[in-house]
Amino acid sequence: MIGAVEKLLTETIGLDAASVGQTVIRQAVKDRMAACRIIDAQAYWEHLTSSAQELQELVNAVVIPETWFFRDREAFTMLARHARENKRTLPIKVLSLPCSTGEEAYSVAMAMFDGGFAAHEFKIDAVDVSTRNVAIAERAVYGRNSFRGSNLEFKDRYFETTEGGLRPNAAVLKQVRFRVGNLFDPRASFGQEAYDILLCRNLLIYFNRALQDRALTCLKDLLAKDGLLLVGPAEGALPRLHGFISAEWPLAFAFLRSEHVNTMAPKPAAIPLRTPVPKVNRSSSALTRPKIGKEGRPQPPAKPVDRISESLIEVERIANAGRVKEAQEVALAHLKAFGPSADIFYLLGLVQDADGAASEAARSYRRALYLAPNHREALVHLALLLRKQGDRSGAEALVGRLDRAQKRSGT
Ligand SMILES: C[S@@+](CC[C@H](N)C(=O)[O-])C[C@H]1O[C@@H](n2cnc3c(N)ncnc32)[C@H](O)[C@@H]1O
Repeated sequence: MIGAVEKLLTETIGLDAASVGQTVIRQAVKDRMAACRIIDAQAYWEHLTSSAQELQELVNAVVIPETWFFRDREAFTMLARHARENKRTLPIKVLSLPCSTGEEAYSVAMAMFDGGFAAHEFKIDAVDVSTRNVAIAERAVYGRNSFRGSNLEFKDRYFETTEGGLRPNAAVLKQVRFRVGNLFDPRASFGQEAYDILLCRNLLIYFNRALQDRALTCLKDLLAKDGLLLVGPAEGALPRLHGFISAEWPLAFAFLRSEHVNTMAPKPAAIPLRTPVPKVNRSSSALTRPKIGKEGRPQPPAKPVDRISESLIEVERIANAGRVKEAQEVALAHLKAFGPSADIFYLLGLVQDADGAASEAARSYRRALYLAPNHREALVHLALLLRKQGDRSGAEALVGRLDRAQKRSGT
């Protein structure tokens, strides 16, 4: 019977049994049989296939609800900034799918408020296939497990103590509307709205390749033409296969549906890597061995600037893969090998920020700005960090500086 249940779950919610392991499904079936007081496997199968409610209970029992506030923090920084820079018709419509127990959707609301948006300027729909998760999200009382990492200053600004834990304040709660729905049944679950920003994080990993493709088609359907899609760290390869382009923001795992909007982060023309980034040969041996040119003649060894750029790209690559600690180590090694530069301090700040080390991150951004006072990304990130820490006037001063720098350079 387990094989048949697995197939039913794949057909219903896309779950690939191999991704969670057979034991999870076996245990869930065992628990549900006990709850229904059924001891015979065939009798349970008949009950399961004739009762929508029992199928929902089994779904509730097998899904992985793992989530927390500001999981992959850069995603939230990035989406608020994307919304500001690509503002079109208000309100901006955001969809958190799957929202699990609500932490992601409420984090979006907090990030949008921190990004300077007023309540009437954005709205968030949050959808999950688990009725149990949606009920928890609506109740909105959170314990320690929902607050992870060390950068938790948002707790003081946006939460109130209540019986059993902490609850987002009324302003945050009001921005989010929860619904039960299935990604594979988009129009029935979501209506006709086209979303400007869609978070589909840490769900695609539970599907097989064919269903990942189907999911991406559904997600594309739900997004506005120039919409932004955010996926989880392990899912970054998939949107590209469906014509999305990377928004090129380290650690945000963000993709644009079409090409005409601003991509924001480390792109040589627009932003940071101030060291010119030549096309590089990414094999590590290229750093030491003379290269052989097309004509077969040995080429001169890589110039120092190539090695610096290559090393910066390596830090970014590791950061983009979500390996925050390793990225910090590689950034520090870069500093030791090549000495201080605005770009390495900015990247170091970014990974420290993503790792929840706010004061170290602020120090690194400031070092970047000491070396390059108009470093656009360092200005933006430090401003966001200060705003999150409640230092509004410090943040405003940096935004003013950013505006002046942009006016001067005509960007
Ligand atoms: C690991 S949580 C991810 C939550 C959040 N997006 C995050 O990244 O923290 C996965 C959620 O996907 C939901 N889910 C699984 N299959 C789904 C489907 N077909 N449609 C909508 N939600 C689904 C589960 O109920 C679970 O709450």
